[in-house]
Amino acid sequence: MTDQSTTVLPPRAAAEDSDVLSLRRPDDWHVHLRDGAMLTFAADWTARQFARAIVMPNLVPPITTVAACEAYRDRILAALPAGRAFTPLMTAYLTDQIDPDELERGFRKGVFTACKLYPANATTNSSAGVTDVRKIWKVLERLEAVGMPLLVHGEVVSHDIDIFDREAVFLETVLGPVLRDFPALKVVLEHITTEDSVRFVEDAGDNLAATITAHHLRIDRNAMFAGGLRPHAYCLPVAKRRHHRQALRKAAVSGNPRFFLGTDSAPHTKQDKESACGCAGIFSAPKALESYAQTFEEEGALDRLEGFASEFGPRFYGLPLNEGKVTLRRVSQAVPAIMEHDGLQIVPFQAEEELAWTFQDETGT
Ligand code: NCD
Ligand code: ZN
Repeated sequence: MTDQSTTVLPPRAAAEDSDVLSLRRPDDWHVHLRDGAMLTFAADWTARQFARAIVMPNLVPPITTVAACEAYRDRILAALPAGRAFTPLMTAYLTDQIDPDELERGFRKGVFTACKLYPANATTNSSAGVTDVRKIWKVLERLEAVGMPLLVHGEVVSHDIDIFDREAVFLETVLGPVLRDFPALKVVLEHITTEDSVRFVEDAGDNLAATITAHHLRIDRNAMFAGGLRPHAYCLPVAKRRHHRQALRKAAVSGNPRFFLGTDSAPHTKQDKESACGCAGIFSAPKALESYAQTFEEEGALDRLEGFASEFGPRFYGLPLNEGKVTLRRVSQAVPAIMEHDGLQIVPFQAEEELAWTFQDETGT
């Protein structure tokens, strides 16, 4: 009897378990795939890690019709390497004049998954955006009636308002009134950057969720000025003070299903970034999951990554969870200093940094 212990199987190596992380295949709920040569590059990187992505419509000209959206969706699918399974979830770009009938038609047809509200001139390619939210009140009424989600770039664009305060002022002057007037409207507050937004989402109803980027979890505003001007740390909304980043990290790992993954990966060429008037946008798609995993591990919450990356988004959108799996291995890797594609040069997020994890999908690539 006392010998029984000798028959017990040897324990599994603990190190092995903590070195492999298997997750339901994730989705990216906010990405810029661009067009032309950049599309071929960006779509491939997103589709390697994510099964689906909400694709931003801020092309030139923006995607405002069902026909333009179908054509863009076809270009995305055609740009992918053969055999790469990926579903782009398309969005319509709201303008002051947009026709609610066109939005409803696209939504019912399964072409538009959601609408995107860019306050005019808030960010890259947003000059055709909405100049005053009251101009689209009828559109919001329709979105609420048909159950079509509204995705918002949450910043006011007034020169009187300091750039670091634009998100907080948007909550008070735009989002608050919209949610009060349309209590059943499904809204995603995209790429949140402040503690104010975290609290706002926590205090709101179940119809409001927020996405959090990989970069806003890792950089604060000092990154833009570290030893000189750092254009590759510049995006919109701009990274804020350190305590805001801490609040975002707590929200991301909290297990609250109304915070989920949206990279806002937004490639621009090196030349367009390193300029006297550099473009806003950080290209995080190639190592997105590794970057999130590193943050979750630093917060002692790797077990919460799957909910944030693969479950909360589809639940909010009312879509099925993905069936496939992906694996992250604790194998360190250096992010390339620069990536090249078809004559374009792009500097990725965390260029030349060492990452602790390496992504591998179910096919082993
Ligand atoms: C985005 C882009 O480049 O299209 N830039 C960014 O800094 N995030 C636009 C946006 O999402 O604001
Ligand atoms: Zn974006």
